[in-house]
Amino acid sequence: DWNSGNVIADQVAAIRAQVGTGKVICALSGGVDSAVAAALVHKAVGDQLVCVFVDHGLLRAGEREQVEIDYVAATGVRLVTIDAEDRFLSALDGVSDPEQKRKIIGREFIRTFEQAQAQLLAESAADGDPIRFLVQGTLYPDVVESGGGTGTANIKSHHNVGGLPEDLQFELVEPLRTLFKDEVRAIGRELGLPEIIVGRQPFPGPGLGIRIVGEVTRERLELLRHADAIVRAELTAAGLDSQIWQCPVVLLADVRSVGVQGDGRSYGHPIVLRPVSSEDAMTADWTRLPYDVLARISNRITNEVADVNRVVLDVTSKPPGTIEWE
Ligand code: XMP
Repeated sequence: DWNSGNVIADQVAAIRAQVGTGKVICALSGGVDSAVAAALVHKAVGDQLVCVFVDHGLLRAGEREQVEIDYVAATGVRLVTIDAEDRFLSALDGVSDPEQKRKIIGREFIRTFEQAQAQLLAESAADGDPIRFLVQGTLYPDVVESGGGTGTANIKSHHNVGGLPEDLQFELVEPLRTLFKDEVRAIGRELGLPEIIVGRQPFPGPGLGIRIVGEVTRERLELLRHADAIVRAELTAAGLDSQIWQCPVVLLADVRSVGVQGDGRSYGHPIVLRPVSSEDAMTADWTRLPYDVLARISNRITNEVADVNRVVLDVTSKPPGTIEWE
């Protein structure tokens, strides 16, 4: 029967057997999967591991600090942060097609990571022992949804699976490949990771870039980050985090509607709330949030976030809707 202590012991042994005395690199995303995968590898081989965190500028408020400060304090991993906001925003300039955004973000992520890798590789080669292994936080559902397990159609390009270059010079280490999300969380807690990371609801790799319907700009990201922080704070304050799988907050940047705010007419953007309940994200239902919580979120967003004059609730299950809007 399943027990997080046993899984940790087994994985640590398997990682040691695979990696030996080799050097390992891992990209942290800020999410639970890569955080737990890296923590397992760190437990197994210590400072043979170096972690890289790419700040692509599409993160939510506070996420970079959670990795740089809280996660590092809890695990002691070596971390290199790459500031890549400018690079991602210029690559996304003028792009509004969802799949194109995903491709660009995935591509830039790989390029940015490869540059960091190349530098770390050169440094490690200089002392005669180049990095040979790459950690991936791939979960069982990622494998299945990308067609790796059952031949299911790939609905959206999940860039953490199947998106890696063919000529990859590293051997993959994937300690979570047979696990589901709740199992990964249990392992993370057992490893002593911060609750804000372990309990984090799923957040897509392409980040806020696929939660802005329309072109991605710095101003729009700031606006959405603000609205998202309000939603997360209110859901947490209402004690609802454990009842929802995740709650994407989406900015309809290409839509404007008329409103009345302050002294006169406004012509602002809608914010969409997409609270969903789910077991594994393959199917989902919209969460029946209490009206008073919805009212508080709506009041705060329209009062506090400039250029937003309407908050709407997405009441679509999956299928037919996907959880994300893009
Ligand atoms: P959809 O929108 O397909 O989302 O119903 C299912 C789950 O996957 C997350 N998601 C992603 N995760 N990279 C990721 O790591 C991605 O490109 C991506 N797209 C969607 C989404 O948040 C939901 O949990």
